Amino acid sequence: MFDTILPAPPDSILGLTDAWKSDPNPLKVNLGVGVYKDASGNTPILAAVKAAEALILQTATTKSYMPISGAPEYGRCVQEMIFGGTHEILSSGRARTAHTPGGTAALRSGADFLKKVLPNAKVWVSSPTWANHKGVFGAAGIPTVDYPYYDPASRGLDFARMQEALEQIPAGDIVLLHACCHNPSGVDLSAAQWQIVAAIAARRGWLPFLDFAYQGYGDGLEDDRAGVLALAAACPEFLVASSFSKNFGLYQDRTGALTLVAGTSQVASSAFSNVEIVIRVNYSNPPAHGGLIVSRILTDPALREQWLGELTAMREHIAATRVRFVAGLAGHGVEGDFSFIARQKGMFSFSGLSDGQVKFLRDAKSIYIVGGGRINVAGITEGNLKYLCTSIREALAVQ
Ligand code: LMR
Repeated sequence: MFDTILPAPPDSILGLTDAWKSDPNPLKVNLGVGVYKDASGNTPILAAVKAAEALILQTATTKSYMPISGAPEYGRCVQEMIFGGTHEILSSGRARTAHTPGGTAALRSGADFLKKVLPNAKVWVSSPTWANHKGVFGAAGIPTVDYPYYDPASRGLDFARMQEALEQIPAGDIVLLHACCHNPSGVDLSAAQWQIVAAIAARRGWLPFLDFAYQGYGDGLEDDRAGVLALAAACPEFLVASSFSKNFGLYQDRTGALTLVAGTSQVASSAFSNVEIVIRVNYSNPPAHGGLIVSRILTDPALREQWLGELTAMREHIAATRVRFVAGLAGHGVEGDFSFIARQKGMFSFSGLSDGQVKFLRDAKSIYIVGGGRINVAGITEGNLKYLCTSIREALAVQ
């Protein structure tokens, strides 16, 4: 039966890592997948995570199943992280959180839930968006439609066209918004623009679904909440998909959360029971380890302090790398104004390299960049900066 099945293409992001691993070129550089790397190009386990894991190992007494939506303490920690501990949503009990295997499962659980309760809804995604968004919503049977977002000419946000499009989206549709550190462009909304988007959502009646995969990587844990808080103030109902892959470095522990907010606690409970059904049929209940680490760190003042310091260091390292990269390009004779790279937020930079140039860099230089020109800035080190800049100079010259 399987003889006639054609091979599927490699994943546009994770497939690059496989190709990079099997590339024998000693100069090879992986700027594909969004994984933090330190100055030596390593992705270390955070010290706060190591300490929390040691405590968990010492005190763990069972490996019995988790509840379908994970441990209640984890849900509380996630809500405090998303909204801040004193937010009205917490005191009025209008949110319910499910511990999911990574941000991807948070998105997929949310999508499956929405397909069930809004069977005819479409989801509107930014142009461009994370390569996997359309796949995740498509797999849930929800059609995706683009709304304008990035403007290649200004290398910034095309807010006028975005606003115009959001005004046309019908009530009952879903709008996926990147809460901070837009993936792939690194171009975010200002606090004032978030207020405008929130007002449109409230007036038009579409449902915001926030992808919050990079909290703490933009301007800091609290400042990165600006979009979520603006929507929370304007809209009684919305969803948030969180990921702790990047801000806790828990990539392989698949640690994320889906948070559902409703107008009242009772409505939240009833809606969330449908999320739990979706989870039960998909993966039954979450893997515990990553969630235990996050809860442990967030409820232990000393560990929390240590983790916040490490998160700040990662954010500042990427910001400093952006500046070094811009200087490196100029210093190695790459023509053009690349100062926009230093203004972008989060892990990624939309380099402006064409798909042909990306292909040249991969085929001739073993430099792996996601199609569309997205660069993981964290993959740039002192050791590869010169090679990268001189290779980009060549790529711009030949294409
Ligand atoms: C990325 O965009 O590179 C990350 O979110 C990893 C992934 O799963 O694609």
